[in-house]
Amino acid sequence: MRGGIFLKKVFIKDLKEKDQIHDSFLVTRKDTGISKNGKPYLNLKVIDSSGEMDGRVWDDAEDIAKKFNKDDVVFIKGFAVAYLGGLQMNVTDVRRLTEADYSLKDYLPSSKRDFKEMASELDGIIARMTDRRLRGLLTSIFNDPDIRPKFLIAPAAKAMHHPYVGGLVEHTLSICGLVEKISVHYNAAVNKDLLTAGALLHDIGKIHELSYQRSFDYTDEGRLLGHITIGVELVEEKIRQAKDFPRELAVLLKHMILSHHGQLEFGSPKRPKTIEAVILSYLDDMDAKVAAISAMSANPADTGSNWTAYQKLGFERAIYKGGAPSPASDTRGQAEDDAPNEDNARDAAEAAEVKKAAMNIDLDLFKKRI
Ligand SMILES: [Fe+2]
Ligand SMILES: [Fe+2]
Repeated sequence: MRGGIFLKKVFIKDLKEKDQIHDSFLVTRKDTGISKNGKPYLNLKVIDSSGEMDGRVWDDAEDIAKKFNKDDVVFIKGFAVAYLGGLQMNVTDVRRLTEADYSLKDYLPSSKRDFKEMASELDGIIARMTDRRLRGLLTSIFNDPDIRPKFLIAPAAKAMHHPYVGGLVEHTLSICGLVEKISVHYNAAVNKDLLTAGALLHDIGKIHELSYQRSFDYTDEGRLLGHITIGVELVEEKIRQAKDFPRELAVLLKHMILSHHGQLEFGSPKRPKTIEAVILSYLDDMDAKVAAISAMSANPADTGSNWTAYQKLGFERAIYKGGAPSPASDTRGQAEDDAPNEDNARDAAEAAEVKKAAMNIDLDLFKKRI
């Protein structure tokens, strides 16, 4: 303890097999199972600011279950064991901590980006917009005191991608960065301001879809309406308050929010039908999947193998995390490179194979939405 606050020493990312655990974690899942010999056990998921880990209470499960609830910060005694290529906690005792005992920031995973920097990046993107009607609408939304603080701390998802405090704004800004590059590449074909506005607003409904005061979960509103409907309603309300916002622009903007999941079966009531909506849908999927795979590679519970555990959400496959080899620098002279010989022919054939494999992976990734 330090000044009444429990001093957390061990973080999930540092745990190794057989480590003794005497530390505190936030419980995000707690349910009971029955083992093969008919004995009840507790199935837990615990998190701290560094990651998450599954846990099991095998002995005295019923008594220990009475001592705490989901969303409590608890002191856990136990040890780390290998399980399905990763790590799991074998929990032998649990004690609930009171709010005065801990600082919540030790337990909630949070964006590694600086929060002030993300806020000013958001404001800068809006301020640089040429279209005054979109700029005005976005300013009214992102400066609304009921929206701005929530947007700046909300996670982008409960579990799949950017599932941490500040994840929504980080994901949104990442897509805006891609929009910046794509708009240069496709230039005249794309309305950059409209695409940027769609990028900024596509997931705005998540501020009400998810709860994020403790563990991340869906709100009743989120489960009943979903972030696409909530987002369109929010934007429509602000459009009505704006003076002279053109109907056609409103329709194009709302279409981007409605269609950003790309397919009807992934929750979009309309499939993308404009260039901006198609691009946004691909960028959203790409950013979510790249972030999810990056996080898997760094997941401390997934050690000891070049492969992650089977990833049901968004992928329906295990992901290879061995990484690509670093590029080999060629020390031979250019003239030698250009000469037609067996080596060069083999290199070219190998390069073509690698490119073909990479394209197959890309296409595969887009088959399933997060
Ligand atoms: Fe979404
Ligand atoms: Fe998104």
